[in-house]
Amino acid sequence: MRALIVDPEAPGRLRLGEAPDPIPGPGQVLVEVRHTSLNAAELFFAERAEPGEVIGFDAAGVVVAVASDGSGPGVGSRVVGFAEGGGFGALRAMDTADLAVVPDGVDLGEAATLPVAAGTALRALEQAGPLLGRRVLVTGASGGVGGFAVQLATLAGAYVVAVAGSEESARGLSELGADEVAIGLDTVTVPVDVVVDTVGGDQLVAAYALLASGGSLQSVGWAAGREAVLPVGSTLGSPAPKAIVSVYNGGGLTDRHAQLRRLLDLVAAGRLRVPVGWRGPWDKIADAVDALGNRRLRGKAVLDVE
Ligand SMILES: NC(=O)c1ccc[n+]([C@@H]2O[C@H](COP(=O)([O-])OP(=O)(O)OC[C@H]3O[C@@H](n4cnc5c(N)ncnc54)[C@H](OP(=O)(O)O)[C@@H]3O)[C@@H](O)[C@H]2O)c1
Repeated sequence: MRALIVDPEAPGRLRLGEAPDPIPGPGQVLVEVRHTSLNAAELFFAERAEPGEVIGFDAAGVVVAVASDGSGPGVGSRVVGFAEGGGFGALRAMDTADLAVVPDGVDLGEAATLPVAAGTALRALEQAGPLLGRRVLVTGASGGVGGFAVQLATLAGAYVVAVAGSEESARGLSELGADEVAIGLDTVTVPVDVVVDTVGGDQLVAAYALLASGGSLQSVGWAAGREAVLPVGSTLGSPAPKAIVSVYNGGGLTDRHAQLRRLLDLVAAGRLRVPVGWRGPWDKIADAVDALGNRRLRGKAVLDVE
């Protein structure tokens, strides 16, 4: 099959090439992939994967062979799903527990952005507990996870503070529902109940300091690639515990189908927008990697398999 394969000589270490066709296991359908999406995590894994490997978490397409155990949707169904690898291939064997049927009217390319980015945002916010009337701060709000976190927190009834790195990357965050948009954290002074942190480093430290008593920082990622050094004593003194909680939305979770179902229903109802900052044929992967890797991407990158 054709696939975006890891090539240490290619820009972004990914190029269109050939890879063996996947062989589905008993609980897997075979999907003809029509779209995939690029996440920050794939840049990380492209640096570490072996030449020729097919990475990629998200993929949306059409079922071309049913699962031999009888689970999952039939041939011709439009589906989207997650797996740890294989999303950048023209064919993908997908666990039926890790995919969902895409409703009519939802663009398959937009659906391809949901498993990692929107799924992680949803998981982070749910871990934080009820959000109605609470103050939620999202760092890296211009990014893939961040753009969905802003919207989902708004839908849940929170007052949302969206933090971006520049005026340019802050554009469009109010339209996603943010009540306040801040450039960096220096101007944010009112305590918040929940932080969804995708940046790490100094922003994690500053956001933790803003947490109200009993609040939680949901640690999604470390986009800044910098360590976070908490000042001495900063974790002490709050009457109720202030937590730093890790967020995990990778393989091995049992609620992926239900999570995707909910996200797709929100998109189908027009209540959740997919902020697409880059879309193009998959042979233009170098452009997408460049935009994401150099912080010029706002929202998600969709790769069309052509
Ligand atoms: N825990 C999990 O299961 C899970 C799942 C998905 C993603 N993640 C992690 O979460 C993080 C965000 O993922 P994503 O896909 O949303 O990434 P993304 O689209 O690149 O968004 C990250 C945002 O962070 C901001 N940022 C601040 N400093 C940065 C720096 N030095 N370099 C790059 N970006 C910087 C950027 O916004 P500004 O330019 O506006 O500052 C960017 O929009 C990554 O570390 C990823 O690996 C974890």
